[in-house]
Amino acid sequence: MSVYFSQTEHFFIDTLNLYEGYKMICGTRIYTSEAYGAVIVSITGTPGTGKTTASKILSKILGLQIINLNELLSNEFAIERDAERDTLIVDVERAVSEFQFPKEAIVDGHLSHFVRSNFVIVLRCKPKNLYQRLQSKAWSVNKTEENVEAEALNIIAGEAYEMNDKVFEIDTTNKTPNEVVEDILKAIKGKLKSQKYDFLEYL
Ligand SMILES: Nc1ncnc2c1ncn2[C@@H]1O[C@H](COP(=O)(O)OP(=O)(O)O)[C@@H](O)[C@H]1O
Ligand SMILES: [Mg+2]
Repeated sequence: MSVYFSQTEHFFIDTLNLYEGYKMICGTRIYTSEAYGAVIVSITGTPGTGKTTASKILSKILGLQIINLNELLSNEFAIERDAERDTLIVDVERAVSEFQFPKEAIVDGHLSHFVRSNFVIVLRCKPKNLYQRLQSKAWSVNKTEENVEAEALNIIAGEAYEMNDKVFEIDTTNKTPNEVVEDILKAIKGKLKSQKYDFLEYL
């Protein structure tokens, strides 16, 4: 797989500056990429863990555009529909090799760990709480259960570790969206201890 990838020491340092700036002015100013360099942050995790909510807050703080990977994949890289599971089958490999990713972005989606990025953030949520979040999105019981089970089996986190070096899991169960974003910023700054979560006991 070959995808656009911009990881250099230089970019990393720029990202750190950006975070310091954010702390000083409490996120009221939007930073431009020209001033601070390029970074790609993938926000992945089982549906319902809060990716889109966190991505929107993060994008305002960092001044980065959001690539909605699900939209991109379903519009341009869908192969067929699995009617029984009410799901589109997409060609992820073709997407990451053919799509020209920008130099900097937040990539929001439960497949975003397949995009090579500077940081992969895996949002986690305890299965019982995830069930409630998915039901509040009016998902069918079948789809809800399928995703809750995937979270309990640590599937996305497992895939993310296989695909990338800089992987940070964040347990969102008892965190507000703003606290989740604080942790993402710490990860980018190198201040978040990498921690693995195992929700198998909730099966
Ligand atoms: N940190 C959080 N704590 C509690 N609920 C949250 C949190 N983040 C998001 N939510 C809620 O959970 C649901 C799923 O969030 P969403 O951002 O759409 O998840 P995803 O994009 O991962 O599918 C929404 O109802 C949202 O308001
Ligand atoms: Mg979403």
